[in-house]
Amino acid sequence: MTYIRETIVTTIDKQGTVHIAPLGIIEEGDKWIIAPFRPSKTLENLSAIPYAIANYTDDMLVFAGCLTGRKDWPTVPVKGCQVPRLESALSHSVLKVVAVNDDGRRPQHLCEIVSEETHAPFTGLNRAKAAILELAILVSRLHMLPAEKIDAEIAYLSIAIEKTAGPDEQEAWSWLIARVKDHRDAADAKGKNAVHHEHHHG
Ligand SMILES: Cc1cc2nc3c(=O)[nH]c(=O)nc-3n(C[C@H](O)[C@H](O)[C@H](O)COP(=O)(O)O)c2cc1C
Repeated sequence: MTYIRETIVTTIDKQGTVHIAPLGIIEEGDKWIIAPFRPSKTLENLSAIPYAIANYTDDMLVFAGCLTGRKDWPTVPVKGCQVPRLESALSHSVLKVVAVNDDGRRPQHLCEIVSEETHAPFTGLNRAKAAILELAILVSRLHMLPAEKIDAEIAYLSIAIEKTAGPDEQEAWSWLIARVKDHRDAADAKGKNAVHHEHHHG
């Protein structure tokens, strides 16, 4: 078992354009591994500029937003680093890639911590935030998961939302649910087309 921190990773391309993506960073002794799937913008950026910021945030709008086409979250410069951090980060680590193990599918970028900073206090755990994190992960894997599995997970996770969400969590949750529905509708449309197609030729 390896410890994973769910973070928002910021990277930049050669032009300095910032990219924001939710990524789990994997503990490896005193270092951390960033493992972005191929293809991804994060992977491209790390190849061009081998620095990243791991932003530690409990702002679930950012996690849900990044998975639903809302990627434009405010960033601010970090002293001594080309890559900016997320404004809403409670704290961050500046990571420098020191080795890459490319398995072709999901290259592992071993990073050392260059510096760390705290910006705001951690204000405690919240079940709705945790539920949104779980649904965010499901949404990032929608194409691989059966509909029944997603329905069962949503039924369970919504208990925490109903009991413990504030307005931001309700909004983040609604973005992800809309994304699941879009996926469902697209799959249904495809299914209907296939049936229609068969009919036509049958
Ligand atoms: C909590 C969480 C953790 C994730 N961890 C990873 C990861 O470790 N590697 C990865 O490739 N994608 C991960 N994803 C999915 C990426 O956020 C998503 O594929 C993203 O679009 C990356 O591609 P991009 O760099 O082109 O934006 C994660 C998603 C969530 C919600």
